[in-house]
Amino acid sequence: MSNGNNEQPNSVISLQSVEKIYKTKAGPLRVLKGVDLEIKEGEFVAIVGPSGSGKSTLINMITGIDRPTSGEVFVAGQRLTKLSENQVAKWRGRNVGVVFQFFQLLPTLTVIENVMMPMHYTGTFQGQRKERAMELLEMVDLPDVAHKYPSQISGGQQQRAAIARALANNPKVLVGDEPTGNLDVVSAGLMFAMFEDLVKQGTTIVMVTHDRDLAGQIPRVEEVRDGQLMSQEAIDQRLVAGRQ
Ligand SMILES: Nc1ncnc2c1ncn2[C@@H]1O[C@H](COP(=O)(O)OP(=O)(O)OP(=O)(O)O)[C@@H](O)[C@H]1O
Ligand SMILES: [Mg+2]
Repeated sequence: MSNGNNEQPNSVISLQSVEKIYKTKAGPLRVLKGVDLEIKEGEFVAIVGPSGSGKSTLINMITGIDRPTSGEVFVAGQRLTKLSENQVAKWRGRNVGVVFQFFQLLPTLTVIENVMMPMHYTGTFQGQRKERAMELLEMVDLPDVAHKYPSQISGGQQQRAAIARALANNPKVLVGDEPTGNLDVVSAGLMFAMFEDLVKQGTTIVMVTHDRDLAGQIPRVEEVRDGQLMSQEAIDQRLVAGRQ
């Protein structure tokens, strides 16, 4: 069945023949070479692959931070390739939470102010923003540092604050680019447990990780090799051949 846009009816994320070519001084660099990816609502997906294979580029297609040279991207019912940059920013603020390796909190805002930031996009009433932000900070176990600045708290605490901010608008989709990459094992484990809870509540999560142990705990793993997703058959064959 089609809704006229060729979007798969059950997918919350749909990438169709996505190509990305960067213009570089050395000439065009083809980074994504025809990626097809369907992710259903409530799936938890790990994206793995060697450095430089195109994982961040792929993730940036899903968040609309970057757009494909050709192909189509549908996320949360929206055809991203048809939106202007402004429209994408607004859409992202309402539908997608993003967490990066380096937490990217605004240093001049307190923790709670950082968490309240995305609420501007959704028109959450001013009076409710603080309350909602505080709820989120309690969820990530950070209520005590609400009024501190990012530089005054630990890396693990900053990452939890970044997650609270990413969840400010109850996004359907949460995307992480190495969200645990800069955390110690304990903080990474806590964050992972939090992601598992969110998935249970119906959030769709896509997360790039270099951490094989972590990827091993994620129900679906997609591997990027040289700008393409490896087929499940190729992964199976490699397992049969006993190679890593
Ligand atoms: N804005 C850009 N302009 C030009 N080339 C880029 C740009 N962004 C990424 N690239 C190149 O595209 C390729 C894929 O980069 P990407 O960041 O997606 O890899 P990655 O799999 O996320 O790697 P890592 O694991 O190191 O984060 C690399 O060769 C990179 O140098
Ligand atoms: Mg990357």
